[in-house]
Amino acid sequence: MDSTTPQVAVKARRGTIVGARIEGIGAAVPDNVVTNHDLEQRIDTSDEWIRTRTGIVERRIAPPEIACSDLAAKAAERALENAGVAPDEIDALILGTATPDTPFPSTACWVQAKVGLRKVPVFDISAACSGFLYGYILADSLVRTGTARKVLVIGAEVLSKILNWEDRTTCVLFGDGAGAAVIGPRDEGSGLLAHTWGADGNLAPLLWQPAGGSRTPATVETVEQRLHTIHMKGNEVYKHAVKAMQGAVLEVMEKAGVTEEDIDLFVPHQANIRIMQATAERAGIPLEKVYRTIQKYGNSSAASIPVALADAAAEGRIRKGDLVLTAAFGAGFTWAAALFRW
Ligand code: ACO
Repeated sequence: MDSTTPQVAVKARRGTIVGARIEGIGAAVPDNVVTNHDLEQRIDTSDEWIRTRTGIVERRIAPPEIACSDLAAKAAERALENAGVAPDEIDALILGTATPDTPFPSTACWVQAKVGLRKVPVFDISAACSGFLYGYILADSLVRTGTARKVLVIGAEVLSKILNWEDRTTCVLFGDGAGAAVIGPRDEGSGLLAHTWGADGNLAPLLWQPAGGSRTPATVETVEQRLHTIHMKGNEVYKHAVKAMQGAVLEVMEKAGVTEEDIDLFVPHQANIRIMQATAERAGIPLEKVYRTIQKYGNSSAASIPVALADAAAEGRIRKGDLVLTAAFGAGFTWAAALFRW
């Protein structure tokens, strides 16, 4: 499925609800910092290898008692405060995660209770690293159609709980965190201008958690074989990631009729610095306009874009009226890009 709001339509419809915007943003990451040097003590790796191959220097790792909904609720409260919106004004909650508290109910339900939302619809979406952008695109359509006025969209992960800490090809890459946004209507030119989203399930076996679902339920053997952890063919994922991110970014820029010069900040999914650079280069976006958090958080999947947006806004790197480009790629494979005015 694919849709967009060409600028012509944006102008024609001024005065009505155009492009749901991010009214407030918030993030929450665990306090515990694990550096590449810490990992050198545990596995056969080096700071130099991790830094040069990925751009990661350190990541945040949650303590055992913290689950996805704990970080998500904290990020949601910060987003609500940032937007000046009370919990009872929220009409729906969409939460993207690959590390839910429980297979059911959804993590969104646990968050709803923690944050004190009304009895509104709340649900999880499983789109891995594209989860936050999928959520924003869905929220935009809910707001445009009048189904909801304000939607809370969260991307939250505790990936450390599904890592094999003896597998150096995966455990060095990921981190924990949560980011949340209050999405609401605006008619002042701010909001979502163009998007694209898609998936290709044929590529699912390249990046997945093999056990713990109905295909391979948990047994002593699956636990012994570490099948409840992330399994990834890194090289192949890399190639598909670059292709999908580049394609998505060029597509939304063309749909919105903007050039690289119009873009104030590019906030890509933080998976690997080389994927981010290759995407920016293909779109002609200079590296100074590429916002990076990968060095301090690693890849936090669905959380990476909203956490980066929250950090960028807090640092003054995004200001009102700025044109912001985001793009993500994740397990599935899924991908999405969104161009919006802040
Ligand atoms: N430390 C030291 N050496 C390592 C490590 C490590 N942590 N991991 C792998 N190596 C070794 C390998 O064993 C291999 O050694 P060999 O040549 O003796 O066999 C060598 O380093 C090169 O391995 P490659 O896999 O070829 O390294 P590459 O340059 O491809 O980098 C990486 C690997 C960083 C995983 C890269 O492929 C990548 O970023 N892929 C995309 C991953 C990604 O983005 N995943 C998430 C996207 S979706 C989502 O976010 C859920």
